[in-house]
Amino acid sequence: MNLSVSTSGALRGVITLPGDKSLSHRAALFAALAQGTSTIRRFLNSGVTQAMLGALGELGIKWELHDQTLIVKGCGLHGFRQPGKALNCGNSATTIRMMAGALAASGTPCILDGSAGLRRRPMDRIIEPLNLMGAGIISANGGAPLSLSGRDTARSLRSIDYALPVASAQVKSALILAALAGSGTTILTEPGPSRDHSERMLGAMGADITCGKENKISIEPLSKPLLPLEMTLPGDISSAAFMLVAASIVPGSEITVRDVGINPTRTGIIDVLQNMGAEVTIGNERLSYGEQTGDITLKAAPLKAVAVRGETVVRMIDEFPVFALAAAFAEGTTVVRDASELRHKESDRISTLCGELKLLGVELEEYPDGFAIKGGTCRGGRCTAHGDHRLAMSLALAGLCAPEGIVVGGAEILNESFPEFTDNLVRLGCRKLIT
Ligand code: S3P
Repeated sequence: MNLSVSTSGALRGVITLPGDKSLSHRAALFAALAQGTSTIRRFLNSGVTQAMLGALGELGIKWELHDQTLIVKGCGLHGFRQPGKALNCGNSATTIRMMAGALAASGTPCILDGSAGLRRRPMDRIIEPLNLMGAGIISANGGAPLSLSGRDTARSLRSIDYALPVASAQVKSALILAALAGSGTTILTEPGPSRDHSERMLGAMGADITCGKENKISIEPLSKPLLPLEMTLPGDISSAAFMLVAASIVPGSEITVRDVGINPTRTGIIDVLQNMGAEVTIGNERLSYGEQTGDITLKAAPLKAVAVRGETVVRMIDEFPVFALAAAFAEGTTVVRDASELRHKESDRISTLCGELKLLGVELEEYPDGFAIKGGTCRGGRCTAHGDHRLAMSLALAGLCAPEGIVVGGAEILNESFPEFTDNLVRLGCRKLIT
């Protein structure tokens, strides 16, 4: 699908977006590991969450999804059925990595596989620590397919004291799940503060997880089954970021996105947009299952360049493609460093982003761990999504301001995380949008 966007007048209005992707993955998987029936409202129905639900079905978990309400019948930590074929995790790294941890805990023999894109993603970061725990994972080249040997559940996994080489919530979550079937206390230390949804949700379900200082957490083996979930998920701040950046680059815009998750491990993009000069306010704050939620209002104001590095990078790890768009329309040169993890996402996001923005006329420099973007140089044109949902949506936004408009090839990939992307832009008043 080609997605064409041309210059738009001010964006205005109030919207509510689908549930958070990270929380949807966790809610479905953790509900399957609980004892009893869970009800999860505002579940994100998209390509990557369908991969998780498909895998759970193959493992014998009964679930139903009506509109955005997911009902899951949990089977406990050791209740998965051995699947008759390899589990297809599609394009979803969250599914394959968290599922590896859950399968290690359950002791179920299984092969985990996925798309060609997923096979290129690094899995050694979970294989090594899970194997230290005794998970018995074999991979030919450090990537999918992953073969888990299974184990007699009378035997626990080994508990470890492990320092993660990269700050990664997917790796941390896989290890937390395995630790629930450990022989004693597992201690994990991260180099930076990655999103803590698993700690919060599993804690609310009865798991004994303590978050200490300096990104250290300790996990005790489960002494009783996880409680089922009864939860309404907040909207996805990573999807909201597209709408907020759209409004920040079109003069005169003012939008509100209701009921968005504002967990502090995810709000780096809000801080950075504020530093660039956008007027962002958060109202109606509340808490559900330990997750903060609020309404975010953004009023456009001229953006100026900023520098992003260090811990802020982890707090906005999925937002760099859309942030680069804001940088392309800001005054001055924006610099991003310490972000080499971007090279291991759905595409090598430093290389694909720089390559595509250059095609659109943007003056930039690429670094091994980031980029520098000179604002005010984007003229528009044709570009491609490289099989990366966030790249597709970010590039499309350039059309709102670039004099020549934008055509993004391969834009159907956006259905992986945010199928309602174009509908919401139209709802805010973007008229010249053709798919
Ligand atoms: C996610 C964690 C992040 C993020 C991904 C979702 C999660 O990946 O990029 O989109 O749900 O835990 P890493 O943990 O690998 O950085």
